[in-house]
Amino acid sequence: MDASEALRSTGSVRRFTEQPVDDETLHAILDDARFAPSGGNRQGWRVVVVRDRSIRLELGRHMQAVWDEYIAINATGRTAFSVTDINDAERPQPPYASVPSDLVDAIEHVPAVLVIGVDMRQLALMDKDLNRTAIVGGASVYPFCWSALLSARSRGLGGVLTTFLARREPSVASLLGLPEHHAIAATLFLGYPEHQPTKLRRRPVDAFTTVDRFDGSAFTG
Ligand SMILES: Cc1cc2nc3c(=O)[nH]c(=O)nc-3n(C[C@H](O)[C@H](O)[C@H](O)COP(=O)(O)O)c2cc1C
Repeated sequence: MDASEALRSTGSVRRFTEQPVDDETLHAILDDARFAPSGGNRQGWRVVVVRDRSIRLELGRHMQAVWDEYIAINATGRTAFSVTDINDAERPQPPYASVPSDLVDAIEHVPAVLVIGVDMRQLALMDKDLNRTAIVGGASVYPFCWSALLSARSRGLGGVLTTFLARREPSVASLLGLPEHHAIAATLFLGYPEHQPTKLRRRPVDAFTTVDRFDGSAFTG
């Protein structure tokens, strides 16, 4: 598979066959992903391969709570956890209805669960002093995550990048032994797909690309 095809057809996989992912394959995926770019080439990522059943179940409990909250807020027409999703009286309050999740329901059985942490001291947050939420730091860890998913796909595996655990970082820090100054960036779920979605719904280039200014004319190529 060439790079363009892989980029255009790597949809999220949340249901996996029972085929295990052996350590050699998992290592090879991470060995590909480590070539991802990062600010200053500081490579601040850390990876935990979560094998222990009780740790998985505990992580799953936290993910489920965040998932339920996310769905409940989105159901009101808001964009859950966005900068505009401020905690006002209209926001749904707990308890939230429990919503099934293929991933969380099967967290014990997902072939590979990887928690991706990042050493915050290694991130040059170019936007940290602006009067808005900083986003640039993530760019030093998410390419690593995406490279892992692309590598997995090239090896016949599928997976999904999730972020719901980040909302529970303080609660899971001791469970995972998260070092000081580190943040949880993502949890990757990997395995052999029950079905690999390849037809992805994405906006066309001219819907998000303009010439000279963000209010310029559409760039149509
Ligand atoms: C930053 C980020 C966070 C995400 N968080 C979650 C998540 O918490 N749970 C989940 O099931 N999927 C998560 N996803 C997967 C997205 O839902 C998925 O990429 C998107 O819906 C596009 O779907 P597709 O890949 O099947 O086309 C996340 C993806 C990204 C890039």
